[in-house]
Amino acid sequence: MKLICLSLLLAALGQAQLKLVSRPAPTPEQVARGKAAFVSACGFCHGVNARGGDGGPDLVRSVIVLDDEDGDKIGPVILGGRADRGMPALSMSKDQITEIAAFLRQQTQAAANRFDYKILDIVTGDAKAGAAFFNGTGKCNSCHSASGDLAGIAGKYDAVALQARFLYPRSRVKQTRVTVTPAQGRPLSGILELIDDFTVVLRDSEGFHHSFARDAVKLDIQDPLAAHADLLRRYTDADVHNILAFLVTLK
Ligand code: HEC
Ligand code: HEC
Repeated sequence: MKLICLSLLLAALGQAQLKLVSRPAPTPEQVARGKAAFVSACGFCHGVNARGGDGGPDLVRSVIVLDDEDGDKIGPVILGGRADRGMPALSMSKDQITEIAAFLRQQTQAAANRFDYKILDIVTGDAKAGAAFFNGTGKCNSCHSASGDLAGIAGKYDAVALQARFLYPRSRVKQTRVTVTPAQGRPLSGILELIDDFTVVLRDSEGFHHSFARDAVKLDIQDPLAAHADLLRRYTDADVHNILAFLVTLK
């Protein structure tokens, strides 16, 4: 019995191996673009070389990744996310997904061949510009201080983890409360159900939903991480690199 199981397993492994080598190799250009996209969009959770990092699993060992062909298995995970388990949905084009898949495939092959991985240097920004953003446009200093709560943060986390920390700080609050005050009428409070650039929906204590045009009301969101969610939509790539370059100086 044991023997049969083992030979089945070996046959399955053999097939997986075959699949790895039989597909046409992605071009170096595809892999390079995939790597760049992976490092900036996925690296801070899965590690810049996909070997796992702060919060995200090792993708080189993922069955989904090993089974993938040109993004057919990875694509749905990227686009749909697994919000309840810490994987956000990300919007990406089909080409980007194919390129990320090409990069991941190269990483799995590198692992299979026991190549050495080069950890990419993600600290490419300008620390001065990062400090200016921190104390200016970003208003980070309204909640944080480089010599207070964030002092020594670069000693606590490496650059990859640090980037994950400021992009996606851990929420300790499960439900966000909001108070909406229309131009005319009284304020209404409840659980924030949905917010985008145009609409706010809240659920009151009776369970009724109320929807408002965002620009017609005053909002008071009692979510300590709301500022971070808002920043995430506003950062340019340069902002992210610069902030990281600044934060790594807080040793
Ligand atoms: C905020 C952190 C975060 C980011 C950003 C992120 N992931 Fe994930 N990812 C996760 C977590 C956590 C899981 C595990 C979810 C679970 O347990 O099912 C996961 C799971 C996955 C899986 C499934 C692995 C498996 O075997 O089940 C794939 C594939 C994946 N991520 C790819 C990506 C790619 C590609 C990107 C970038 C385009 C990305 N992720 C960005 C956190 C993240
Ligand atoms: C409105 C308040 C607010 C603003 C503005 C804000 N943050 Fe935060 N930030 C928080 C809260 C709340 C947390 C969750 C951890 C905590 O309670 O300290 C957090 C977490 C973090 C963490 C992780 C700390 C850790 O030890 O894990 C970093 C890094 C960080 N923020 C950087 C920034 C940067 C950089 C900016 C500006 C671009 C910024 N924050 C803007 C409130 C804010």
